[in-house]
Amino acid sequence: MALVLGIDTSCDDTSAAVVEDGRNILSNVVSSQTSTHAQFGGVVPELASRKHAENITRVIDAALKTAGAELNDLDAVAVTNRPGLIGALLVGVEAAKALALACSLPLIDIHHIEGHIYAPSMTADLPFPHLCLTVSGGHTLLALVEADWTMTELGSTLDDAAGEAFDKAAKMLGLGFPGGPAIDRLAQENLETPVPFPVPMRNKPGYDFSYSGLKTAVRYYLEKRGGADSASASAVAAGFQEAAVEALIHKTFRAAKETGVQAATVTGGVACNSLLRRRAAERGKELGILTAYPPPALCVDNGAMIAGVGYVRWKQGRKASLNLSAAPNGELPNR
Ligand code: KG4
Ligand code: ZN
Repeated sequence: MALVLGIDTSCDDTSAAVVEDGRNILSNVVSSQTSTHAQFGGVVPELASRKHAENITRVIDAALKTAGAELNDLDAVAVTNRPGLIGALLVGVEAAKALALACSLPLIDIHHIEGHIYAPSMTADLPFPHLCLTVSGGHTLLALVEADWTMTELGSTLDDAAGEAFDKAAKMLGLGFPGGPAIDRLAQENLETPVPFPVPMRNKPGYDFSYSGLKTAVRYYLEKRGGADSASASAVAAGFQEAAVEALIHKTFRAAKETGVQAATVTGGVACNSLLRRRAAERGKELGILTAYPPPALCVDNGAMIAGVGYVRWKQGRKASLNLSAAPNGELPNR
């Protein structure tokens, strides 16, 4: 039995978790900064770093207490060190280094998307290879995942991330931040008569995504009509959501057919979207492909997915030095 502490401070959530053997989540504590950033309509990087610095010790402490674990019980510390907001990442990395040094623990550096890709397997038994679609505020990435957790990128966004597009469309409709949940809610009122926006990249070969065209289509639609009243706002939200979700589903299941995998997963904050979850399940059933998406707490940024994949990478021999730094970008590591 091995206990790994996972830390993620890549964006605006301060998170820490204790996970046993990569799968048994003993605690998963997330301190959200949404209320701090909402008044600015988006994440303010400098404020995010300061909030992480204020919260990190308390969050790690809460993760240990909830798990009923002491620092001495830990076997390794895993931390997201890339990609993300650099000042935000550094808070988590420095905290993890301090713990690793003080408690003589191995330090495991994790790519944030490795965590998202690993998350669905914490609550489902998945065959390999499988496909994973990661859709969040900062990323839209389709990857092939092998049994040794090698992750190969098949496609990504050419411009905005899916979550970013939801947030921007919500802003145009005068909804609050984060916009994804607000669009999801408003769209429920008009699922039958959505504005028919074209599905981006549907007829393009390959597995890349693009959201700038859809965003512009929403803007022109609203400008032409001088904005949206409450009835048309729900039709716009439903139309945007329909096109944005179908773009993701279409490419993911085309890739599933073309690669011959037996399973596909959807993860990241946008995987909380009710239409995306429903469509993934329906399309998977039609095509005989097992689909899985984690519960919302494991879709959004969290420390448990970092502890989980941290356990796997530690077993495989990954180990960072105490000189570990953070980076705003970074390719998905193969192993
Ligand atoms: O994974 P996450 O918590 O943080 C990042 O790594 O970015 O994802 C946050 C994103 C935001 O853009 C938010 O609007 C979106 O996930 N999101 C949703 C929903 N819930 C969260 N998008 C669409 N529908 C939702 N229900
Ligand atoms: Zn994320």
